[in-house]
Amino acid sequence: MSALWTSDEVQAALAAASITAPFEAEGVTFDSRAVGKGDLFFALSGETTDGHGFVADALSRGAAAAVVSRDVDGAQGTLVRVPDTMKALVDLGRAARRRSEARIASVTGSVGKTSTKDALLAMLSAQAPTCASVASYNNHVGVPVSLARLTVDARFGVFEIGMNHPGEIEPLARQVAAHVGVVTNVGPVHIGHMGSEEAIADEKGCLFAGMADGAVAVLNRDDRHYERLAGRARHFGVSRIVGFGRGEAAEARLVSCSLQDSGSDVAALIHGHRIEYRLGAAGEHWALNSVAALAVVEALGADVVKAAATLAGVKASPGRGARRTLKFGAGTIELLDESYNANPVSVRAMLAVLSRTKPQAGGRRVLALGDMRELGEGADAYHAGLADAVAASGAAQVFLCGPHMEALWQRLPPSQRGAHRPDSAALVGDVAGALEAGDVVAVKGSLGSKMKIVVDAVVAASGGEAGR
Ligand SMILES: Nc1ncnc2c1ncn2[C@@H]1O[C@H](COP(=O)(O)OP(=O)(O)OP(=O)(O)O)[C@@H](O)[C@H]1O
Ligand SMILES: [Mg+2]
Repeated sequence: MSALWTSDEVQAALAAASITAPFEAEGVTFDSRAVGKGDLFFALSGETTDGHGFVADALSRGAAAAVVSRDVDGAQGTLVRVPDTMKALVDLGRAARRRSEARIASVTGSVGKTSTKDALLAMLSAQAPTCASVASYNNHVGVPVSLARLTVDARFGVFEIGMNHPGEIEPLARQVAAHVGVVTNVGPVHIGHMGSEEAIADEKGCLFAGMADGAVAVLNRDDRHYERLAGRARHFGVSRIVGFGRGEAAEARLVSCSLQDSGSDVAALIHGHRIEYRLGAAGEHWALNSVAALAVVEALGADVVKAAATLAGVKASPGRGARRTLKFGAGTIELLDESYNANPVSVRAMLAVLSRTKPQAGGRRVLALGDMRELGEGADAYHAGLADAVAASGAAQVFLCGPHMEALWQRLPPSQRGAHRPDSAALVGDVAGALEAGDVVAVKGSLGSKMKIVVDAVVAASGGEAGR
């Protein structure tokens, strides 16, 4: 197999670089803890740490070379000296994109980016060599490092692009220069930094900046910002717009979705062709992500039917809807782990799944929610606004934590009230203590609300995985 990067190629990509010895790199990273043998390590200066402090360690652990902008003590190995390591990473990512003959997709949206990207990776890699961003590597560092990992033999590339603040998406989109861009949806996520949903839609629409010729935009036809996004796409010169959603106007249309124990059974019409498939993740929101992903597959020129057949293997990951059956007392409980993040859109999606998940005979639905963060001045209203969805979820007992959840607590009928505590550490005992065999328990909150400790406590109180 040929190297991901030779020192000659790095030299060509980074004109100002001075390289101390020839090398071949098999990977690219900026995280010294994740350095593997043969990686090209970029010493980036972060807000709290400076990667230059880890260069010696990275080289001693087998890095092929380290990209640095100043001298480092005790570094034994090859150095690539550049004036600015962050700029060098962006330049290497751009060089990877320039040399690639892959068909490229970019993914953004308020929720469902990683889920959609992972579905695309599963579908495309079953057809041809495919590279995709790792995890949620979607910011000013994650995007160029993902691009720099794009192998020469890749026929497809899938890149997640995210934002917390205005102006972040456009430069990343220009680096990716995708053939197909998908916006999963627009919702009040990071609205504290963004001001309004319209501002969020406009920012997401920057995904279409700098796309390759003949570009395709895949947009959520059901989203109330659809026209706004379509306008942005046209503004940036996109030549074809494909809608996905439940409505009849969508070219990629979700026809039906039934929740099964190990996922969902989905029927969709993709440009008039009906396809039916099993999806390994549960819920209508996941089904919509899969339909969006199928529209991307079509626009990339890959085989849609073959792609759909691989979706059975696409599962929700821990913290993002993964389900576990745990031994509990004389029976079992079902745990829905959504502890990785939360916002009004994804909490509603989870509550819809909970409402369709039947407890066993005698069991109940139990809900544990932590604060949704970064919602700005409207935070309390967004929390209180979940009351109707919580009622519709059929939860018998609701456990809440965090200051904003007080607003939801006030809206709960006394019969549903489990407990409201200042933080998740204080809530752990309430939730674990309330569970009984047969229950379904759903746990969700923003990462900063630390709801994972509630998940861990439920697992600790159980007798371990029950299997199926
Ligand atoms: N289309 C959707 N609508 C509503 N909720 C969704 C949708 N897709 C995924 N979710 C839920 O949102 C949460 C985050 O999903 P995912 O990690 O795919 O989003 P993301 O946009 O990549 O998030 P991040 O901004 O953290 O990278 C999960 O709990 C998931 O179940
Ligand atoms: Mg993500």
